[in-house]
Amino acid sequence: GKEWTDVSDLVEELAGSEVLIRGRVHTYRQVFMILRQSGSTVQCVAKQSEETNVSVNMLKYLKQLPCESFVDVIGLVVLPKDPIKGATQQVEIHMRKVYCVNKALTKLPLSVEDAARSEEEIEKSFQPKKPGGKAKPFSRVNQDTRLNHRVLDIRTPANQAIFRIQCGVENFFREKLLSKDFVNIHTPKLMAGSSEGGSAVFRLEYKGQSACLAQSPQLHKQMAICGDLRRVFEIGPVFRAEDSFTHRHLCEFVGLDVEMEIQKHYSEIMDLVDELFVFIFTSLNEKCKKELEAVGKQYPFEPLKFLEKTLRLTFEEGIQMLKEAGVEVDPLGDLNTESERKLGQLVLEKYNTEFYILHRYPAAVRPFYTMPCADNPLYSNSFDVFIRGEEIISGAQRVHIPEVLEKRAGECGIDVKTISTYIDSFRYGAPPHGGFGVGLERVVMLFCALNNIRKTSLFPRDPQRLTP
Ligand code: 4AD
Repeated sequence: GKEWTDVSDLVEELAGSEVLIRGRVHTYRQVFMILRQSGSTVQCVAKQSEETNVSVNMLKYLKQLPCESFVDVIGLVVLPKDPIKGATQQVEIHMRKVYCVNKALTKLPLSVEDAARSEEEIEKSFQPKKPGGKAKPFSRVNQDTRLNHRVLDIRTPANQAIFRIQCGVENFFREKLLSKDFVNIHTPKLMAGSSEGGSAVFRLEYKGQSACLAQSPQLHKQMAICGDLRRVFEIGPVFRAEDSFTHRHLCEFVGLDVEMEIQKHYSEIMDLVDELFVFIFTSLNEKCKKELEAVGKQYPFEPLKFLEKTLRLTFEEGIQMLKEAGVEVDPLGDLNTESERKLGQLVLEKYNTEFYILHRYPAAVRPFYTMPCADNPLYSNSFDVFIRGEEIISGAQRVHIPEVLEKRAGECGIDVKTISTYIDSFRYGAPPHGGFGVGLERVVMLFCALNNIRKTSLFPRDPQRLTP
C-alpha cells in the first residue's frame, strides 16, 4: 500500500523519510545508480549502513541490470554532503530494496546518455582532461540513428522538453481561440480531389474510386464558414507528398488551421495572428521555462525576439529592402528560401524582431482560392509569417464569389469536377472570409532555433522514412 513518489518531487524536505520510486537505470557506476524518470534524475546509492542493510547479493544484482531497465527502489532520502553533479535532484536515495520491473536489452542500439550530449560536450571530450593525458572522446549520435531508434532517443531531457513545448503551443493556440468564441472542428482527411493543387498529394484508392489524402483542411474549413460556424479552427494531420528532402519539410505534419468571417479587410486576420502568437510566445516563455532550458542545454539558442505589436511589411516593401541590400528578386514571383532568410536578417537589423508578417503577395504565386487585391489584381490579400527568416504560416482572404473561384481553379489546373461541392457551397450565399495555416513542428523548431524539423516530430514521416 505504499505510494510512488515522482523523481521530480524528491526534494530536501523529504530527507529522513522512506520513499518508493520507479524509474529507469540511467547509469550504474560502482555503488552509484542514477535513476531516471522522464527528464528528472536522482542518485541512488547502495550504501552499507544500519539503516539500509544492503546485501552482497543486492550489489551483484544491481551490477548486472542493463541500463534503461525499469526498477522500483525503496530507499531513504538523504541530504548529500556535497552538491550532486550528475543528477537533477539534490537529494540522494540510500537504497533498501530494489526490484526489477522490466529488464532492457543488455546491448541497446543507442545509448540515451550519448544521445543527450551537447555538441560542446562532445567537442570538449576530444581534448585530454590533463595535459599529456589521453582524450576519451564521446561518440556522436547521428540523426538517422536517432530516428531509427526514436523510442530511445525520445528519452533524452531535450526531447522530453521538446514534446512538452509542442503540447504547450497546441494548448495556448486552442486556449486563445476558444476564448474568442472559435469553434474547434474536424474535417475529413480522405478527399475526392486535392485541396491545395499541385503535385504534392498522396493518392489512394477509396472503394474503387480514386481519392487523395488532405493536403490541408482548406476547402472544408471554408465550407464550415459557408455553413455559418463563423469562426473555426482545427488541429490535425496534414499530408504532403513532398519530393524534396529538406530540413523543414515533412510528408505528414500537424496543421493548426484557422478560418473566420471578416468584416472589412483582411488585416483582421493578421490582427488575430498577431494576438495569437504574441500570446503563444509569452505563455511559452512563462510556463515552459524549465523545458526551454532543457532544450537549450543540449541545443543552445537565444530566446526569440518578438515585438508586442507584430511588425507588418508589404511584399513590395520587403522586395525594396532586399534590393537595397543588393539582392534582386522577381517583384511578381515568390521568395526563395535564401531571400526569405536574407530578409529575415534585414528585418532583425532594422526592427529588432525575429517574428514578422509579410503581406500583399503577388497573386500568381498563391493558391487558386486567394482573393486578389481590389486596387491591383497582380497582388493578393494574402500573407506569410516568419520566425527567424523561415515561414511558419501562410494565410489569406479567400474568393467567395463562385464564378471567380471556378475560373481560378481551372486556370490553376485543378479538375473543377472534383471540387464541385466546394464551389457549390458559395452558390448558396457566403460571407467574406479568410484564415491561415500553421505548421506545428515548424513553430517549435524555429522558436527553439533547432536545425531540423525531424527533431520536433515525434515519429517523423519524410520522403525517405515511413518507420518507426
Ligand atoms: O503554406 P501552406 O501550404 O498553406 C496552406 O496549407 C493553406 N491552406 C493555409 C491557409 O490557410 N491559407 O501550409 C501552411 C503551413 C506552412 O506555413 C508551414 O508552416 C507548414 O504549414 N507546412 C509544412 N510543415 C512541415 N512540412 C511540410 N511539408 C509543410 N508544408 C507546409
